[in-house]
Amino acid sequence: MSVFNSLYADQYDELYAAKGYVQECDLIEQAVALYGGTRPSTVLDVGCGTGGHAIELANRGYAVSGVDLSQPMLDRAATKAAALPAGRRPSWLCGDARDFDTGEQHDLAIMMFAVVGYLTKNDDVLQALRNIRCQLKPGSLFLCDFWYGPSVLSTRPTDRVRVMSSGEGRVIRAASTELDIVAHTADVTFKLWTLAGDRLVGETSETHRMRYFFPQEFSLFLASAGFEMKSISAFPTLDGELDENAWNAFVVASAI
Ligand SMILES: C[S@@+](CC[C@H](N)C(=O)[O-])C[C@H]1O[C@@H](n2cnc3c(N)ncnc32)[C@H](O)[C@@H]1O
Repeated sequence: MSVFNSLYADQYDELYAAKGYVQECDLIEQAVALYGGTRPSTVLDVGCGTGGHAIELANRGYAVSGVDLSQPMLDRAATKAAALPAGRRPSWLCGDARDFDTGEQHDLAIMMFAVVGYLTKNDDVLQALRNIRCQLKPGSLFLCDFWYGPSVLSTRPTDRVRVMSSGEGRVIRAASTELDIVAHTADVTFKLWTLAGDRLVGETSETHRMRYFFPQEFSLFLASAGFEMKSISAFPTLDGELDENAWNAFVVASAI
């Protein structure tokens, strides 16, 4: 796999240190309370990355299975999860959303932080949603967020540079984006430089092809995969209006 390689995975938690994983887990629990009824026991986190949601949910008492395509991201997740009591740690599986198999049916599935956007072709989206559906009990919820097409097209991504402290040194990240408005994709090129003092100690570059979605097409994908869309709102809310300023949409769907 060409993205989320070892160097990028090493810096991932620093890059997204400000992301509100605890608040997002509150949002997940609110969605379940509103649309799911009973508290789930088992949670499937598809594209779990370094475990931001998986570990927080495990800490709240859920039995979590985390799946990701990137072994370096899973290695980071497992290292962090070692701080949890042994019986509470999530299980980790290196696999593709389109064909992984946990061998179980879960009570809730999540796919957070635009993971579904990494599935850029219609067939890939359908294959992944169908595979997730097979590993959920009927009536269970599936929650995900994605780049919201109307906002992407009206706001247009801009080039960005961030400089962050990292231990004794710094990380510089430059991101530039090219849209393909026919394919509904954005190629985001991340360049990353790791500095110790003034010395360059690491350098990497990755292009992430991300798909953005529109509400009607996503509802159709869900229906074709055996889900019913219950709600779509501005992320990270359950009732925020989706307008051109809402970069991310949050979807709650139920397994039929
Ligand atoms: C932006 S990160 C999100 C990670 C995590 N959910 C979070 O909120 O921090 C996207 C993750 O999706 C994973 N991913 C991308 N394509 C995937 C696929 N086809 N199957 C499983 N994981 C995938 C990447 O390896 C990466 O860890």
